[in-house]
Amino acid sequence: MRVDNVHTRTLWWESGSIRMIDQPKLPHRFVLVDLPTYRETATAISDMTVRGAGAIGATGALGVAQAANEAPDRGFHGFVTEAANHLRATRPTAQNLFAGIDYVLKAIEAEADNIPRARAAAIAAANAFCDDDAESCRRIGELGAPIVAAKPRVSTHCNAGWLAFVDWGSALSPIYAAHRGGADPFVFVDETRPRQQGSQLTAWELGQEGVRHAIIADNATGHYLKAGEIDMVIVGSDRIAANGDVANKIGTYTSALAARAAGVPFYVAAPTTTIAAHTATGADIPIEERSGDEVLYVWGWSDDGRFIRVRTAPAGSTAKNPAFDVTPADLVTAIITERGIVPATVEGIRSVTRA
Ligand code: MRU
Repeated sequence: MRVDNVHTRTLWWESGSIRMIDQPKLPHRFVLVDLPTYRETATAISDMTVRGAGAIGATGALGVAQAANEAPDRGFHGFVTEAANHLRATRPTAQNLFAGIDYVLKAIEAEADNIPRARAAAIAAANAFCDDDAESCRRIGELGAPIVAAKPRVSTHCNAGWLAFVDWGSALSPIYAAHRGGADPFVFVDETRPRQQGSQLTAWELGQEGVRHAIIADNATGHYLKAGEIDMVIVGSDRIAANGDVANKIGTYTSALAARAAGVPFYVAAPTTTIAAHTATGADIPIEERSGDEVLYVWGWSDDGRFIRVRTAPAGSTAKNPAFDVTPADLVTAIITERGIVPATVEGIRSVTRA
């Protein structure tokens, strides 16, 4: 996608380093960071310099390739296994992270007896995984665009745009494709407390693409749905269980309930790397619990150009901070994947699951 009309991706491999957009600095600063070792890459996932299921999946894949690059010949496989475990432990919910790590490990295993070839295979596989993520998201846009064109007043939650992937995005990709195809969608952007991925990232992306939008407080979504001002809801997903239950950013479930009550369709868009065939239902999806400080404080830029943290809650209060919730399959109208638009049922999910 474009930043000030220049095509860019969210992250990419650059001579052993990973270069990525520093997402917490957006929308006020566009900063690129370089991560020269897999350990720094892992930290960038856990501290959310990079976030979004597809983007952390791609980062995990590139991180394993980095580890293969860093590993000494002697003890190569032990080093890579330890690095993969370290990367796996960064965030628990998004399936794409595990898909990315496993994809590159498989390529290394295929060349297990020849370390130079294993290194080359790891780098090639990680880059292929990134390209596949971008292409899957482009295809999701193509398939979902007619839905958006027919239902142009759209609500979305969190950021499932190109910043959450390598390029294009999942939930926002059909909006971009419809807009580029001549439609004029209007997007209700949930602010998405506590980390503001909606107001900081989705709104910025839509602005870069020239898509009309308004940021609303999370608690305003039900109001606009009930008032008949929203034609459809579309969100991304961090993990889809085998029965079609969907984990996504905290607050998604509330939005799905309100959509059902208002008779508004609720779509989920995700590449098939988000499907966890071994996760039977939403109850089996691990939900990340993040620091309560994310609720008690806000980050922002001071007038004198400093990135600062300000406490908004009383000094003695504590907070709970689940990062995701699960929307039951029966609230989901359909799931838009790169392999087709399917119902959120065991059969629907099975029909698009990768081998
Ligand atoms: O905590 P994050 O920002 O990594 O959460 C991921 C998300 O942005 C959303 O839940 C998104 O809708 C799905 S990821 C494509």
